[in-house]
Amino acid sequence: MAHAQITKKYKICVVGAGHVGLVAAACFAELNHKVICVDNNHKKIKDLNKLILPFFEPQLERLAKKNLKRKKLFFTSKLEEAVRKSEVIFIAVGTPPRQDGSADLTSIENVAYNVACNLNSYKLIVEKSTVPVHTGKRIKETIMRYRKNSMDFDVASNPEFLREGKAIYDFFYPERIVIGVESKRAERILKGIYIKLKAPFVVTDINTAELIKHASNSFLATKISFINAVSRVCDLAGADVKKVSMAMGMDRRIGRDFLDAGIGFGGFCFPKDIEAFIYIAKKLGYDFNLLKEVKKINEEQRKHFVEKIKEYMWVLKDKKIAILGLSFKPNTDDMRFAPSIDIIKALLEEGAKLFLYDPQAYKEAKEIFYRDKKIRFAKNPYGAVKGCDCVCFLTEWDEFKKLDFKKIKRLMRLPFIADGRNMFDRKILTDLGFTYIGVGY
Ligand code: UDX
Repeated sequence: MAHAQITKKYKICVVGAGHVGLVAAACFAELNHKVICVDNNHKKIKDLNKLILPFFEPQLERLAKKNLKRKKLFFTSKLEEAVRKSEVIFIAVGTPPRQDGSADLTSIENVAYNVACNLNSYKLIVEKSTVPVHTGKRIKETIMRYRKNSMDFDVASNPEFLREGKAIYDFFYPERIVIGVESKRAERILKGIYIKLKAPFVVTDINTAELIKHASNSFLATKISFINAVSRVCDLAGADVKKVSMAMGMDRRIGRDFLDAGIGFGGFCFPKDIEAFIYIAKKLGYDFNLLKEVKKINEEQRKHFVEKIKEYMWVLKDKKIAILGLSFKPNTDDMRFAPSIDIIKALLEEGAKLFLYDPQAYKEAKEIFYRDKKIRFAKNPYGAVKGCDCVCFLTEWDEFKKLDFKKIKRLMRLPFIADGRNMFDRKILTDLGFTYIGVGY
């Protein structure tokens, strides 16, 4: 009996076909649950049904295709119907930042309202998007207010920790599964959904689960800004931040991950989540100055990188600069809050002519910079560096690690490399005749 309960297949609705929602939907289907993924963007749903994905994520297309075919995964715009057919509703809609740093929770409220109007059986409503603490409480209130019957329901928090570019791996091999619940029934269902994954469950109340997500992301961002601040001191002292990170990381209490100095963090999570955490803490009565500093260091890192280029090149006006790597990190086409955007804008302000290349984010970058006449897009890295006075590496794509630097040197007008991710060995490149600058290295 207990076994039958454990291996139960759930009827799941995932609302929001963004990065978190789409990955979760495809992965739940892969775990044999029956999943309806809903989005109010009709074009997106039409595309998804033709397997045209709205973003690049390794393995996602394969999983979506397989599970669409075996009828474990469905895409629709009909939220009401999807809610009525499901037992568990994961909310993975966007919570975009507002001007003051707070998260816009309009879409979350709308889903809660729709659940209330379609409460035809017991439902478990689970927050998957990163939301401010107390959102669970608000979702519950909304459903209580608008429901048309006394049907039972539960609200839970199950924050997602997946990284873009490694999202499928992170889903199937999480280091922990956080479950914020108010009832044993909700706990049992959530554990049942993930039962096949070999990861420890952390069961808490809803407020705590919401805070775990904020605290985790903010801590990772703090680690990056800390090492970036150290990199500034390394630059001034003539020390090597790569070795500092390595030696620090050998201490298990510190850990080596997220100690790579460079042009800082971007993406839709860290910058937005830090803002939101500062805002929430303030609203609750705590001034989170540490996080304000984390944000400031991150912004300065990009400016400092441009300053270093300027210091070497002297005049940037009409200089040709190749920018290799545009996405906020490798293995994604995501350009949201990418450090490359600020660096490109700063170089343009100095009057430089830019030649851009990225293995994936070509379309996204064109949408941002299509108006700028001083920008050209190259089809490959060699095309970008041809005739250039400088090449900037802004994303550590594997493709760049395999480049033929002898060829690059021949193609460039001036063999100057600005490595924003400390991805190359300084000695190898200087031996080849390049001038090389890194970040604290
Ligand atoms: C992050 C969290 O890792 C994930 O758990 C959460 O669910 C969403 O936010 P993601 O934004 O996909 O994931 O990217 P991540 O791999 O964490 O990198 C974020 C940024 O930090 C990137 O711009 C990356 O280049 C930068 N970074 C990362 C560094 O500058 N140095 C490091 O050492 C690590």
